[in-house]
Amino acid sequence: MPASFDPSALDDLLTRIARDAPRHFGEGNVASYIPALAEVVPDQFGIAVCDVAGRVYRAGAADTPFSIQSISKLLNLIIAIQHLDEADIWQRVGREPSGQAFNSIVQLEVERGIPRNPFINAGALLVTDLLVSRIMSIHWVMRELARRLAGNPALAFDTRVASSEMAHKARNAALAYLMKAYGNLHGEVDEVLDVYFHGCALSMSCVDVARAFAFLANRGVHPDDGSVIVTPQQNRQLNALLLTCGLYDAAGDFAWRVGLPGKSGVGGGIVAIVPGQMSLCVWSPRLDSYGNSVAGLRALETLVEGLGVAPL
Ligand code: DON
Repeated sequence: MPASFDPSALDDLLTRIARDAPRHFGEGNVASYIPALAEVVPDQFGIAVCDVAGRVYRAGAADTPFSIQSISKLLNLIIAIQHLDEADIWQRVGREPSGQAFNSIVQLEVERGIPRNPFINAGALLVTDLLVSRIMSIHWVMRELARRLAGNPALAFDTRVASSEMAHKARNAALAYLMKAYGNLHGEVDEVLDVYFHGCALSMSCVDVARAFAFLANRGVHPDDGSVIVTPQQNRQLNALLLTCGLYDAAGDFAWRVGLPGKSGVGGGIVAIVPGQMSLCVWSPRLDSYGNSVAGLRALETLVEGLGVAPL
């Protein structure tokens, strides 16, 4: 956003996008493989922007909490980068797009238990394994980082969602056991799954998510208090990974349509970063066949076009 950008123009743009979002209601389906998510009212829409000065703009149901799901994979990778030796991380998980569905198991066997990247389920489970083995009270660390980044001390896990995922854990357990069979995942599978599912079950609103990840637009520095969350180099690397791997086998299409680093979740949230300018978060629960929010994607296209941002 140019420094001269008129805040009221951004407010108007968000209001227009939220007003038009219902055109896409009815397209796609809520995630039903996690029963607790299938109960979410499908036709809802929220949008929020946080600029690098920490100013927040919002429209629609921007303050309604939703299950962040795979957006937690970004949070967990940030914790890993903050606390662990990076060589340990990248020995055990790759940095290449997978071209496969987020929960695919096929490639994992072909590639002998080394997941392609930290944003597919296998990679996120592997990062979680690293966190579980090195960090005491990891649930607490995850929740506190989310609270601190979002500036919202009330953020909490939706334990119903976490339990629902644990009760339907078969596919993630299969991924974890396959990595364990190859000697890449070291911990107890159920313990790793429990931490991973709790991260997915963090409840955050669009405003929370936009605020939490605004530092990625600001060279790793939190806009509110100037604290360094990651170094400028780590920040660039995180954005690169988001651009290439953040939307799984739809990452290429997302780069084409939106052209920003981004991360989606099956709760219907998508966060995107405009480097040097702002973070964006959209939420609408109905998903396309790749597990990405239909109305959210449309909204991001319109937002990027309306803002005239073209960092690539
Ligand atoms: O493990 C799962 O399948 C879910 N808890 C998270 C998947 C997800 O959000 C994929 N995102 N688009």
